[in-house]
Amino acid sequence: MPTKIALGAQWGDEGKAKIVDYLTLEADIVVRYQGGANAGHTVKVDDTEFVFHMIPSGIMHEEKACVVGNGVVVDPEALLGEIAELGEKGFSCEGRLFISQSAHLVMPYHKALDKAGEESKTGVTIGTTGRGIGPAYRDKVERTFGVRVMDLLDPNTLGEKLRSAIRAKNEILNKIYGAEELDESAIIDDYIAYGERMRPYVRDISLYINEEIDKGRNVLFEGAQGTLLDVDHGTYPYVTSSNTTAGAACTGSGVGPTRIDEVIGVTKAYTTRVGNGPFPTEMLGDEGDHLRQLGNEFGATTGRPRRCGWFDGPIVRAATRINGLTSIALTRLDTLDTLGNLKVCVAYECEGQTLQQFPSDPRVLEKCKPIYEEFEGWQEPTHEIRRYEDLPAKARAYVDRIADLSHAPASIVSVGPERDATIRVD
Ligand code: IMO
Ligand code: MG
Repeated sequence: MPTKIALGAQWGDEGKAKIVDYLTLEADIVVRYQGGANAGHTVKVDDTEFVFHMIPSGIMHEEKACVVGNGVVVDPEALLGEIAELGEKGFSCEGRLFISQSAHLVMPYHKALDKAGEESKTGVTIGTTGRGIGPAYRDKVERTFGVRVMDLLDPNTLGEKLRSAIRAKNEILNKIYGAEELDESAIIDDYIAYGERMRPYVRDISLYINEEIDKGRNVLFEGAQGTLLDVDHGTYPYVTSSNTTAGAACTGSGVGPTRIDEVIGVTKAYTTRVGNGPFPTEMLGDEGDHLRQLGNEFGATTGRPRRCGWFDGPIVRAATRINGLTSIALTRLDTLDTLGNLKVCVAYECEGQTLQQFPSDPRVLEKCKPIYEEFEGWQEPTHEIRRYEDLPAKARAYVDRIADLSHAPASIVSVGPERDATIRVD
């Protein structure tokens, strides 16, 4: 298998984990390269379901290696909790999970500041996951208080860094937000202990991945969130704090762009979004509720009901352009099995003009109304189908139109959460 990136083409929750778990069959190493415990990646193998927030979704293949890249903000509590939980279910991470020494850490004050910021009445309310992602990336980029995995391994440096950071953050929590201050020594003790537990997993992952590629090993990069949540290309400010697009696989792991062969955009056969921000094809009321029930669309990280809408062509077309998608993996086709009629947004209408491209200006997007094409539903179960030609003709027409609108061929169609509920198109 060539080197591949699998990333979200919409607003996250596209079913990336299912696709990554499936593609790991052909890979040797799976790499997470951005985001943190805001991700909620659900993998179902046999009857065991696992939700990963920090660990790559390939970990349930026991002979494969998994890497947490430098671009990820690492929440040690969440990471170590996942390692322990996997261990209880019989999956060992020892000797095959590697964590970048250069990745920044999520600290308790990042989570406290995330929550306090969201609850305060000033500024934009994004509807974050509350996992401290924005404040952790802020510290990384600001450089004054950033703490990295390598600092965890040296208790003296760690204590020094944390003392000054916690004092400064407590002042903000107290004076700006009127929130409770955090206990300095408890945090330092906890993080020194986390460091000891993480030590065996830490290494220079840029070196490791590049050496493995040189040896001919197959590397799969796993994106978190989705293209429209990218801090530069998404629906700013209603985005996450990292680049979620294909370039981040390189910067977030120390691998050059010339080493990437394929970029797969994972997209649902409809659209969902969690948190605030524009959503042109959103279905409100009973229609949206119905799709939410059909797809059990509730957040894997926060449990929040996801906003649901029809497939949006201009969005995935933008994802193809921004990421250089070589194909799309279409998920959740089976969720639509019972619907009588389906709609697909092919373009937008904006003040009398037809827009083919997703506008980057939110003021334009606000005025956009979806132009829909209607499809008759296939109204047959697709869950057991394994060959593209065996899909109902109406389902194939729907998939073909989506690929056409996305400007990328469909290489995979998923008809259920299980690893084998997958149709390979290529
Ligand atoms: P996966 O990897 C869907 C959304 C949040 C919020 C915005 C910013 O499972 O697809 P943050 O906590 O990142 O500062 O929140 O981004 N968000 C996601 N939505 N799937 C995700 O991850 C998300 N991670 C963050 O709901 O709107
Ligand atoms: Mg998710």
